[in-house]
Amino acid sequence: MKVTAVLLAAGQGTRMKSSMPKVLHPLCGKPMVWHVLEALKSAITEKPVVVVGYGAEEVKKYLGDSADCVLQEPQLGTGHAAMQAESLLKGKTDYVIVTYADMPLLRGETFRSLVETQRLNSGPFSLVTAIADDPRGFGRILRNPDGTVSAIVEEYVATPEQQKIKELNVGAYCFNADWLWDALHRIPKNPKKGEYYLTDVVELAVQNSLPVQAVVHDDFSETIGINTRIHLSEAEAALRMRINREHMLNGVSMIDPNSTYIDAGVKIGRDTLIMPNTHLHGETKIGEGNVIGPNTIIRDSIIGNRCKVLAVVMEGAVLEDEVDVGPFARLRKGAHLKSHVHMGNFGEVKDSTLGEGVKMGHFSYIGDAKIGANTNIGAGTVTANYDGEKKNTTEIGEDVFIGSDTMLVAPLKIGNGARTGAGAIVTKNVPEDTLVVGMPARAIKKLERKTKKKG
Ligand code: UD1
Ligand code: CA
Repeated sequence: MKVTAVLLAAGQGTRMKSSMPKVLHPLCGKPMVWHVLEALKSAITEKPVVVVGYGAEEVKKYLGDSADCVLQEPQLGTGHAAMQAESLLKGKTDYVIVTYADMPLLRGETFRSLVETQRLNSGPFSLVTAIADDPRGFGRILRNPDGTVSAIVEEYVATPEQQKIKELNVGAYCFNADWLWDALHRIPKNPKKGEYYLTDVVELAVQNSLPVQAVVHDDFSETIGINTRIHLSEAEAALRMRINREHMLNGVSMIDPNSTYIDAGVKIGRDTLIMPNTHLHGETKIGEGNVIGPNTIIRDSIIGNRCKVLAVVMEGAVLEDEVDVGPFARLRKGAHLKSHVHMGNFGEVKDSTLGEGVKMGHFSYIGDAKIGANTNIGAGTVTANYDGEKKNTTEIGEDVFIGSDTMLVAPLKIGNGARTGAGAIVTKNVPEDTLVVGMPARAIKKLERKTKKKG
């Protein structure tokens, strides 16, 4: 049995008042269309087709090869949109799910039960409906005395009696493919709007006494359609809660799920505690037993196990195990803190590796640097990495003690076991086990190291 999906995404989304195509507006960090394709995955066996129109190039670029695209130009309604997929799919699939890219909260299991309902239906298609008190402009479902669906009436043409109907058209259908391609050509042009409505296929089936079945849904959080930015924020809130609940069911603790913002696709290990006002974005992966937040923003970063991250902003950074960062630290792209690093308040690290056990307690900037294990970075240390033209690197060895307020003028190498005095301005490489002081710093004596030299 071959099942594919046609996703209608050609509309401009006028009600969004945006220059971005509606389906690219993000929801928990991913464009709307991503969510629908993700949900469809478990219900289809063939590559999905996305009907693009408004902003076609942008949408196609985003989709890459996750879907085949067909162009609908001009956009003459949802029935006309579905018809554009015929040339790609005719004869190639048994069932076609047609759904709208602005219904991003529908779940995979809903699409699967839709397909299952259609497999058991002797008629040409089934659809998903929802019972809801607030109709939100959705089409109303009319039923025959035998319970099968007899028509979908769009809100703007519904009589006052029909407007009271609480069963709504969600916008997800599963068709017998052969019937669909033929029926789409028979949809009459809507006299008022001059468009071809997909919803009119119900009447085409009913005219031929073919039964249309419905999967009725009562979970409103799945059927939030997005026509305005108000809907977008409602959908975001519902999806955020769904994501948070899933993490909690998988063993992640949250003090306040209402103020915990986690993008779709973020991974978190068990026994990690997420504190309030924490934002986890993009391709972020967090291990087990960590305490993250409060007041923390993490994007595209990897965190190992048993770390503490308090009031930190990090992007494109890696923390290994048992790292302790914050409060008020900033980790930028390429920051890599190995196990047992302690980074305290008001520090910034960019494109640098801090070796195991490095301590950097207070207001320092480390950029384009490599720091060996167990080195101490004193308060106010700065790698002067930029000479006005290019970035230069600083290499600091193991067991080094950088005194408070040291300026490390790159390019620079500091040997293992060396020490800088408070306020030193270091412009020349420092040999192993040497103390340097002053402005610019000069060697004053050879040192005995307390920890043993390695190798
Ligand atoms: C549609 C349904 C309505 C249903 C509601 C649920 C029709 C006629 N009405 O109304 O019964 O309750 O969805 O969400 O189908 N699109 C195209 N090409 C077009 C027009 C639309 O690809 O020419 C796409 C849009 O990008 C959008 C989707 O189809 O993703 C739905 O279009 P929209 O205008 O939002 O339909 P609704 O008025 O919400
Ligand atoms: Ca819509």
